[in-house]
Formats: sequence, C-alpha cells, structure tokens
Amino acid sequence: MLLCSPWIFALTCSVPCILAIPATSNSSVASTDTTVTQPDQYYLKTCVKGTGNQAKEGLYVTSYHTGAGTSDVTLEGIDVASVGFLNGTHQQFDYDTPFPWGLQMGGDDNYAAWEFALINASYGDEGFYFNKSGLQWNETEGGFNGWLACDWWHGVPQLFWNYVYYDYSIPSSCAEVDLIPVPVS
Ligand SMILES: *[C@@H]1O[C@H](CO)[C@@H](O)[C@H](O)[C@H]1NC(C)=O
Ligand SMILES: *[C@@H]1O[C@H](CO)[C@@H](O)[C@H](O)[C@H]1NC(C)=O
Ligand SMILES: *[C@@H]1O[C@H](CO)[C@@H](O)[C@H](O)[C@H]1NC(C)=O
Ligand SMILES: *[C@@H]1O[C@H](CO)[C@@H](O)[C@H](O)[C@H]1NC(C)=O
Ligand SMILES: *[C@@H]1O[C@H](CO)[C@@H](O)[C@H](O)[C@H]1NC(C)=O
Repeated sequence: MLLCSPWIFALTCSVPCILAIPATSNSSVASTDTTVTQPDQYYLKTCVKGTGNQAKEGLYVTSYHTGAGTSDVTLEGIDVASVGFLNGTHQQFDYDTPFPWGLQMGGDDNYAAWEFALINASYGDEGFYFNKSGLQWNETEGGFNGWLACDWWHGVPQLFWNYVYYDYSIPSSCAEVDLIPVPVS
C-alpha cells in the first residue's frame, strides 16, 4: 500500500493517526523504537484522534500575535501555516527574523486540566520530540497528555495541551488531536 513516502500518512492524515515508517529507511528511524526523525522543515497538521470533533481535522499550526515577543498557537489553513523545525529538543519556527521563535508551554501550576501553548521570541521549552503520533513533549514532571484543538477567543481554533492530572471531559468544540509533521516542499 502507501509506502512511497514515510510521510504519506501525514499528507493523507488517515485514521488512525500513525505515521507509516518503512523499516528499511535509515533516515526516518532514530535510535529507539519510539522516536522518529522529523523532516528538516515541516508544517504541523492536526489529526483528530478517534471519532472526535472532525471540524478540527487537517488544520495547521500558526501563530496569532498577542503582544511583544509572544503569540498564541492557532490552527488554520496551510496558506498561513508556520514553518517549523526541531533544534535539539526545541520546537522552533522560522518567521525570517534575526531572533528565534519557539514553542513554549503554558504553566501547569494553576490546577487546570488544559493549558495554553505559545510561540515566543525565544528558543521556547526543551523536551520536544517526534514519535509515530507526531509531536510530543517530554516534560520533566511528566504532565503532558496530548494536544487539544478548541474554539477560543481568536475566532479560529486554538491549540492547548492536556494536563494528565485532571481528567475533565472536554468542551464540545474541542478535539483531541495529534500534530503530524508535513514536510515543506
Ligand atoms: C542504512 O545505513 C547503513 C550504514 O550507514 C547502510 O549500510 C545501509 O545500506 C543503509 N540502509 C538503507 C536501506 O539505506
Ligand atoms: C539552535 O539552538 C542553539 C542553542 O541551543 C542556538 O545556538 C542556535 O542558534 C539554534 N539554531 C537556530 C536555527 O535557531
Ligand atoms: C512566553 O510564554 C510563557 C508561557 O509559558 C509566558 O508566561 C511568557 O510571558 C511568554 N514570554 C513573553 C516574552 O511573552
Ligand atoms: C507517542 O508518545 C506519546 C506520549 O508518550 C504516547 O502516548 C503515544 O502512544 C506514542 N505514539 C506511538 C505511536 O507510540
Ligand atoms: C525524557 O526525558 C528523560 C529525562 O530527561 C530522558 O531520560 C528520556 O530519555 C526522555 N525521553 C524521550 C522520549 O525523549
């Protein structure tokens, strides 16, 4: 079947949200079974987990400016998608500026079940990597429990991350999503 490219599943975003990594390819398989090597430059695309809210399917990470050096992560069409790359364990984005922009996760010290994700004018947080479900965060305290796409205050869907220690049911506008890397061609 679809074995022409390891990222073909990213392009078709088929269910389940698992990347097909050919066992014969050196370039796409890293040192462990669970970590995969992402394309050099990529867009991050939502893939709704299970039978969740399909309105959040196939959206791309972009930044929504909210102040000096900071922006919320919104989810929109590929025409405005942000170009991402992994620098060590920093999830950075290329906005053609002389300084870096990195994904920074909102705090988990507020007793909330889901938290903001921001793109700040810095390298952002450490601990990002890819596995077959896309972008993951290896947080020191181990609280990361996946991504949420929800309608929120910018009039377009927005990205949040799920905090493992509170298991509230999510609002109906939300979907649990994976963030799959789509190579920039
Ligand atoms: C994988 O890498 C090894 C060592 O670099 C090489 O000998 C082998 O041919 C490569 N296999 C593929 C499928 O590229
Ligand atoms: C990657 O991160 C290092 C520091 O961790 C930094 O020196 C380097 O400039 C970064 N590269 C880019 C392209 O931002
Ligand atoms: C960057 O993101 C964090 C959230 O982790 C936020 O608290 C902080 O104020 C942001 N930095 C800037 C410069 O706005
Ligand atoms: C990727 O990592 C996350 C977080 O550890 C895990 O929940 C998920 O099952 C992993 N995906 C695969 C395909 O192993
Ligand atoms: C997560 O972080 C821990 C501690 O830094 C490290 O030992 C582990 O290898 C990391 N796991 C992944 C999948 O990056």
